Amino acid sequence: MTPHRSKSRASGAAAVVLVSVSFVGLAQAGPPRLRDPLTLEAPGAKGANAARVELGKQLFFDNRLSSTGTISCATCHKPQLGFSDGKRYSLGVAGTPLKRHTPHLFNLAWSKTFFWDGRATSLEEQVLGPLSSPDELNMPIGPLLERLRTVPEYERAFSEAFPGSGLTAKNLTAAIASFERTLVSGGAPLDRYLAGDRQALDEPQRQGLELFYGRALCSTCHAGPNLTDGKFHNTGVPGDDRGRAGFDRVGEFQTRPYPFFQTQKAFKTPGLRNVALTAPYFHDGSEASLEDVVKFYNQGGKEKDSYGLALDIRPLNLKDSEIKDLVAFLSAALNAPVNVAPPVIPGRSEEIQAADAAAGHGTRTERIVP
Ligand code: HEC
Ligand code: HEC
Repeated sequence: MTPHRSKSRASGAAAVVLVSVSFVGLAQAGPPRLRDPLTLEAPGAKGANAARVELGKQLFFDNRLSSTGTISCATCHKPQLGFSDGKRYSLGVAGTPLKRHTPHLFNLAWSKTFFWDGRATSLEEQVLGPLSSPDELNMPIGPLLERLRTVPEYERAFSEAFPGSGLTAKNLTAAIASFERTLVSGGAPLDRYLAGDRQALDEPQRQGLELFYGRALCSTCHAGPNLTDGKFHNTGVPGDDRGRAGFDRVGEFQTRPYPFFQTQKAFKTPGLRNVALTAPYFHDGSEASLEDVVKFYNQGGKEKDSYGLALDIRPLNLKDSEIKDLVAFLSAALNAPVNVAPPVIPGRSEEIQAADAAAGHGTRTERIVP
């Protein structure tokens, strides 16, 4: 037995304590403490207001944000698919598949790091990533601002949302981030159940809940109101993507003691609200369904000899009926989709808007004249 496996034994007792604490914590907290996102004091969020949110929504859906004028943020982050797009890898402006699976955007107002490897530390900073990436929107901020300045409606909307400064890079990222912070999902069957409505979950879902917070160890990482600890773990997903180690220089050289600062193939624990909508799963979209995900965990991950595999990833010995219960819980208990009414895009003819709406927003392929 290797030293790291014997450690995993020792952590068994600790995990039981942790599990019961996190379950009690959640049960006592009742429904998640979801604050009004407009009042959040996240970096750059100060002073968010309805005008900024509306402007951010327009930008999020506007194909002008891509060099070719053919795709927007919403092409990959589709509201009706949990702000992902159902594909294993989304296609960017160049038609090339991206290297990672598109994540959902629910309850990110509470996140401290963004991207699967956490390389951005605010939603504002994150926006610049897809804009400047040649594989995604390929629309660096300078040329984008010039393009938006040709649309009088945008000039006006920016001045109203940001009196005194108007159409600037900082305000553009602030508007999009303000919109993203309103994508709040709460009041799912799980919340109602924890608040005392025993009918909110049926029997298999209740059994699944017991497993999730108990023997299946899920809540050691998927904890708290958003079902994430906000941390990075190697869960044994096979592949070459080095995850957090890819940009964390400390991870590169492994100077810190294992396993506490393990970053190799470590990815951010995703929140699980509306997880039923966002298949396929994991940073590489390698598991097609929730049943596949549960089976993945039941076998203790797939890359079992991965350096620094998380201690709580180990065979769970769940029976087939228990796998079904856990899937029933994940499929229904966390659902509370966020409906986003398609915005009116500034400076677009009614015909184009109607074509957009018919095609599903953000999926239009004809070129726009900015
Ligand atoms: C071509 C598809 C595509 C487009 C267009 C796109 N994204 Fe993404 N988005 C992704 C992928 C893939 C990731 C994960 C990348 C990674 O982790 O390395 C991601 C990650 C994110 C995240 C981080 C989520 C988290 O949980 O950490 C946010 C926020 C986000 N995108 C917002 C946006 C915004 C805003 C736009 C428009 C300016 C946009 N995206 C455009 C595919 C896309
Ligand atoms: C050691 C921490 C840890 C444990 C224990 C754990 N998870 Fe995860 N979970 C993660 C991380 C990290 C990811 C992202 C992994 C990746 O993409 O490579 C993830 C991803 C997922 C996803 C995919 C979500 C998405 O949007 O792609 C689901 C579903 C999930 N976990 C459910 C569970 C269930 C059910 C259990 C219990 C059987 C569980 N997890 C146990 C850390 C954990």
